[in-house]
Amino acid sequence: MIEKLNILREKAQSEINVSNDEQSLLKVKSTYLGKDSEISSIMKQLKDLSIEEKKQVGQLSNEIKNEISNLIKEKLSIIEANSSKKISFDHTMPVSDDTGTLHPITIVAEEVVKILKKMGFIIVTGPEMESDYYNFEGLNIAENHPARDMQDTYWLENGKLLRTHTSPCQVRAMEKYGAPLRIAAPGRCFRNEDLDACHENTFFQLEGMVIDKEVSINNLIYVMKNILKGIYNKDVEVRLRPGFFPFVEPGFELDIKCPICDGKGCPTCKNSGWSELCPCGMVHPKVLEASGIDPKVYSGFAFGIGLTRMAMFKYNIADIRVLNSGNINSLKQIGIE
Ligand code: PHE
Repeated sequence: MIEKLNILREKAQSEINVSNDEQSLLKVKSTYLGKDSEISSIMKQLKDLSIEEKKQVGQLSNEIKNEISNLIKEKLSIIEANSSKKISFDHTMPVSDDTGTLHPITIVAEEVVKILKKMGFIIVTGPEMESDYYNFEGLNIAENHPARDMQDTYWLENGKLLRTHTSPCQVRAMEKYGAPLRIAAPGRCFRNEDLDACHENTFFQLEGMVIDKEVSINNLIYVMKNILKGIYNKDVEVRLRPGFFPFVEPGFELDIKCPICDGKGCPTCKNSGWSELCPCGMVHPKVLEASGIDPKVYSGFAFGIGLTRMAMFKYNIADIRVLNSGNINSLKQIGIE
């Protein structure tokens, strides 16, 4: 038996040596280590041997089995390493000119950011997983305030939430930098919405905030018009309607004269000639105070541009779901150069 085992050992070794792919190695494995292998039938006969022989043959069988299994493992890992080397990135390959484009939302975000940077804004970010304090409390939205109902919130098991807007970045920036302040914070937001052509549970906003001495609504309108001029390459008429948000007073909804029909009326503006683009307002004194800024010395304004909406206007996209779908064909149809 010992002799037989030694022959098997040599045979297995030489078969492993000449096997150069995964399939043949697996075959060697089943031949020598499988249920019907000769080694396993030797093991089955152990019970008929004397104690001394049992010990010798058993030990040797185990030794050989381990050896074969290790050799196969080693060889397999060499084969795997070689095959991943073969598909590694070849930077001398010519680049296809069908490499895709930036996403429409990224494009509008970059455009707005560029314009705001010129006006002295700094770009900040905040976490998508937020605390109740930054998303609500620090923005003057107390625990039982009905304004929370407007923002169907995804609460997480750890007590935090997925931010429902980019406004928490206002609070974080005020705490970090104090006044005066000019920040822009683009980012992803989440609300528990049922999906349809106009509603998404994941969308993008860009928060803007200016705090300084003697800041007025006129400054807000100027900044907004400047952004729109940069985006649409022409003066865009705006109007302000009252709007309620606990963290601004007064609060507004800023409408733009519909950039698609130029105010004449079309399906996008529901024939009104105006499209809602951006809630905004003068920062509520309580919000300034909560973040350590003296509202008697400083005032400010804030706005939340709907980047998703802006991209839909810009590229005439009727269904919001296209934007997060990852559907390259739909995105291609948008016709970004
Ligand atoms: N964060 C508000 C929302 O998403 C919008 C907003 C931003 C309103 C800034 C006023 C000022 O509902």
